[in-house]
Amino acid sequence: PPPRLTAIRGSAISFSGNPFHLPARACFIHHADALILIEDGRIRAFEPYDPARVPAGVTPVHYENALICAGFVDTHVHYPQVQMVGSFGEQLLAWLERYTFPAERAFADPAHAEMAARVFFREILRAGTTTAAVYCTVHPHSVDAFFAESERFNTRMVAGKLLMDRNAPDDLRDTVERGYEESRALIRRWHGNGRQHYCVTPRYAGSCTEAQLDSAGALLREHDGLFLQTHLSESPDEVAWVRDLFPARSSYLDVYAHAGLVRPRAVFGHGIHVSEEEFCTCHATGAALAHCPTSNLFLGSGLFRLFDALDPRRPVRVGLGSDVGAGTSFSALRTLGEAYKVAALRGDALDALRAFHLATLGGAQALHLDDRIGRIAPGYDADLCVLALDATPFLAFRTARCESIEDLMFVLMTLGDERTVRATWVAGECVYDASRLPDPFRY
Ligand code: GUN
Ligand code: ZN
Repeated sequence: PPPRLTAIRGSAISFSGNPFHLPARACFIHHADALILIEDGRIRAFEPYDPARVPAGVTPVHYENALICAGFVDTHVHYPQVQMVGSFGEQLLAWLERYTFPAERAFADPAHAEMAARVFFREILRAGTTTAAVYCTVHPHSVDAFFAESERFNTRMVAGKLLMDRNAPDDLRDTVERGYEESRALIRRWHGNGRQHYCVTPRYAGSCTEAQLDSAGALLREHDGLFLQTHLSESPDEVAWVRDLFPARSSYLDVYAHAGLVRPRAVFGHGIHVSEEEFCTCHATGAALAHCPTSNLFLGSGLFRLFDALDPRRPVRVGLGSDVGAGTSFSALRTLGEAYKVAALRGDALDALRAFHLATLGGAQALHLDDRIGRIAPGYDADLCVLALDATPFLAFRTARCESIEDLMFVLMTLGDERTVRATWVAGECVYDASRLPDPFRY
């Protein structure tokens, strides 16, 4: 068949490097009127609009009063927790017992998992998120339901079955052997199947024995290109408990390092209460941290040291995480707005360029997928988010008064949310269009 060609026109931004480490002119691209040419799901050109460059027979989709960027990357989220967002009154350990385990127990029913996957994909695409690192439940069919829904949208996703062999209710625990065998079967079924990537997912040191963490390490050694995700140093009570559970380890991260889990494509959620040495280990190994500000504020877990993590002397890969259901929004814009406030409480100022990098290319780098996603650039997957500057009357009023692209981006992350997303494109297809009613989804 002839190549499938599509074109998009509008104001667009992208990054070629990290504005934490480079001046804007060396890493930030803004075309006030851009042409994005897409061929077979990949970006072929990103350049100033010129009608002479539009291929014959192609009519660009023109987004006016909008800002186009790479699809957002959510580096830490729990799809089984969609039905418990906004549960009142507990900090991490009590919150897990009171809300999370009951919510995840419902996934014993495959139909429930399919329902939650449907809700999850609609919500993230509505928010402009096109790739995520996602925790499923301990039930293998929760992974099948998730990846089956991802295939329908052709999204690039990273996900896996929870490993959890202690400190959880009987019906939510696996064993070392069962977790290993079930993970292996899921890896065979899903890893490298289209755009799906398997992620070995021990919940955290509190819910895994040392033997189970070791078996997670074995899985990583036995298969190429796998991902690893878990939680690290989220709350002070949790850190103290893990110290008691693993008295022989020198730090929380060392618990994971000892099992061979600290490596490229490993993503550690939160990493709030960590030492300089742990930052250095992440830097040296290529492991990443997921900054989850709405969750950390909601559970009162603490303030992530973003500027320390990104210290140019030993930068750690950091992505943005919604951490739904402890996190309170699927929207990267909303999450960046809270990241700004967390930084402000620490005496730092997170500017819009650094923030949008964190939510796009930074997340892609955290996942070591920055050769495929996170940028608008030739050869990259055409995963895009179109933000509407007039999404609400007040946003139209306020954005009309922005004097620079940086001002505009900062207002979008301060006032914007999922209503701000006009369209979401996945591998060159518009899968979500806010103006297409009654059902804005197409798949
Ligand atoms: N630590 C272990 N499990 C979880 C979880 O589901 N959510 C959060 N925020 N922290 C965790
Ligand atoms: Zn989490």
